[in-house]
Amino acid sequence: MTQFSGIQPTGLTHLGNYLGALRQWALRHGPDDLFCVVDLHAMTIRHNPNVLRARAREQLAMLIAAGVNPDIACVFTQSDLIEEHGALTWVLECVVSYGELARMTQFKEKAKGQDGVRAGLFTYPVLMAADILLHGADAVPVGDDQRQHLELARTLAKRFNASYGEVLTVPRAVTPAVGARVADLAAPERKMSKSSGDQSGTVLVMDPPELVRRKIMRAVTDQIGEVRHDPEHQPGVTNLLDILGACTGADPRLLAGEIRGYAELKERTAEAVIEELRPVREGTTALLADPAELDQIRAHGAERARARCRHRLDAVLKVTGLR
Ligand code: TYM
Repeated sequence: MTQFSGIQPTGLTHLGNYLGALRQWALRHGPDDLFCVVDLHAMTIRHNPNVLRARAREQLAMLIAAGVNPDIACVFTQSDLIEEHGALTWVLECVVSYGELARMTQFKEKAKGQDGVRAGLFTYPVLMAADILLHGADAVPVGDDQRQHLELARTLAKRFNASYGEVLTVPRAVTPAVGARVADLAAPERKMSKSSGDQSGTVLVMDPPELVRRKIMRAVTDQIGEVRHDPEHQPGVTNLLDILGACTGADPRLLAGEIRGYAELKERTAEAVIEELRPVREGTTALLADPAELDQIRAHGAERARARCRHRLDAVLKVTGLR
């Protein structure tokens, strides 16, 4: 089995990204798996080149600090394989329809109210499909919000194979039982997100412990006053229970039975999150202090990834009549 997944280097990697994705990758990875810092995706909205460069480094460091071992799995930066990912993206743009892309909810959300929406934002899911299909992944560990993009990648793989022959593996999304959709602490009806203008409900992986504590202690709950796992009527309390459960390995429903009030729930959640994120934050900082080591890891990952995908890209170019 080959797993592939990616994360955008935005500098705002949060607890949702960590519990929904990074930690899942760290918990289970082998020599056939690939994890990628998707810097090409990060330029689909307005960006500053120097900031992008720095954040791609930080995201690579964080992935390793979170526990993805680059001596086991292949850890690489997407733009290091821009020729390969770019080539398959073009081919898949000639497989996908305009209407399919126009239906993507993430595009509609991100494009809303923006001037000069980049075409790259529109074709974003095609680049994502290319990432996955280029590397022959069959499992893609992601949070809930990527399901629609994964469905599109499946559709494109099947359509490509039906038109040109069985070259591409049809992937499937793998989401964690708890933590696939961490909600915003200040507005628990929506997901925790990098792009929500207000950061008070978003715990960043790099936030210092005191700030993490403050954000969690101020989390929105409700007037009911009882600790119950009830996503529909108590989304804020349920979110805290899920976060606590994800950090401690305990069942959130059982936790609901043993915690006496909202203050205790928040205290315990804050402690658990701080302890969970501490090694990731400290490890990221330590790695960033050693640029030579990080450069070496990056170069090694790119070399491995390229060697592994070349034959698949050659097959794609051949069956489509380009070679
Ligand atoms: P990105 O960078 O937005 O998010 C990285 C991962 O974090 C998950 N996630 C969440 N999980 C739980 N709760 C949340 N509130 C939450 N918010 C985000 C996302 O589902 C994701 O798994 N398009 C992708 C990056 C990408 C990719 C790929 C992923 C590019 N190519 C190929 C998989 C395979 C994205 O923007 O993720």
